[in-house]
Amino acid sequence: MFKDERGVLSGPMAAALQQEFGVPTKISPDDMLMNALVWVFKGDVETAFRNYIEDGRRNALMVKEAVEQYAPRGKPKRPHVLDFASGYGRVGRHIPVVAPRWRYTAMDIHRQAVTFNKDELGLQTILSHQEPDQIRIGPRFHAIFALSFFSHVRKEHFVPWLEALHRMLLPGGVLIFTTHGPESHATALPQVTMDEDGYGMLEESEQHDLSKDYYIHAVTYQPFVLKAIAATAGLRLIGLREKAWWGHQDMYAVRNIAPAREVETKRIIASGLRQVRTEVKETARGALQTIKRAVRRRPG
Ligand SMILES: C[S@@+](CC[C@H](N)C(=O)[O-])C[C@H]1O[C@@H](n2cnc3c(N)ncnc32)[C@H](O)[C@@H]1O
Repeated sequence: MFKDERGVLSGPMAAALQQEFGVPTKISPDDMLMNALVWVFKGDVETAFRNYIEDGRRNALMVKEAVEQYAPRGKPKRPHVLDFASGYGRVGRHIPVVAPRWRYTAMDIHRQAVTFNKDELGLQTILSHQEPDQIRIGPRFHAIFALSFFSHVRKEHFVPWLEALHRMLLPGGVLIFTTHGPESHATALPQVTMDEDGYGMLEESEQHDLSKDYYIHAVTYQPFVLKAIAATAGLRLIGLREKAWWGHQDMYAVRNIAPAREVETKRIIASGLRQVRTEVKETARGALQTIKRAVRRRPG
């Protein structure tokens, strides 16, 4: 982790950014995303710090716009929104400002992040699990967004993660997630070799403490992601924006259509029953006529 030797993160710049954006600007010393930004900006902590807060605000506004565009059915006034793989509140700290009516919850695998988000940023939080099957949270969210999470998921975990997030969505709810698509491949991860399904990975990540069995750099082309969505029962694609995030990551929006499926199933059963009833009636009518004819033909 980088050392903030000049105390930039707690100096006048922190107060100035807080004033400018109206959000807490505290950064956790364990925040590996901030560490990665300092690396990206070649050790320039000031630029990394401004980017962290400024881009967090921009992303919070983008999330709000996307959630509104793909609004959960019924357009709830106070939607319950989950920020899955929230990190240390880079985006979440801006939500109370940009979407004050939302009931927002941040969820991450890092216990320190969950504690930081709760204690320092005052956010609702949930601790995640590295195994998608171990997430035991029922359908309670109108919308879930996962920024830069599926860009780190192993091939065999892609559908299980879609399924796990789907299980947390209310009927009609939306899941919005970003992926490393062809543009990310060309500009950020050119060394990755793609397989015939449109998936490729690099066994590295910026989250140094997470097992590479679960968290790596992944590149996923559209056919791979669309197939994964199609393989997840109860999800339907409702939006796709190429290169919409940070100029290279693709964004997918999917809806929980499970209840719609149930309605469809009920409709099919009802129409089947109607048909059976009609057939039974016709059979009974036919039988009745046969009986009447037989009675009429009865001698004496
Ligand atoms: C690239 S960071 C993105 C953070 C945040 N979404 C943002 O845009 O600032 C990826 C995040 O995924 C989290 N993560 C990794 N595996 C996870 C899991 N199984 N459940 C929840 N979060 C996870 C990491 O702890 C990290 O905070």
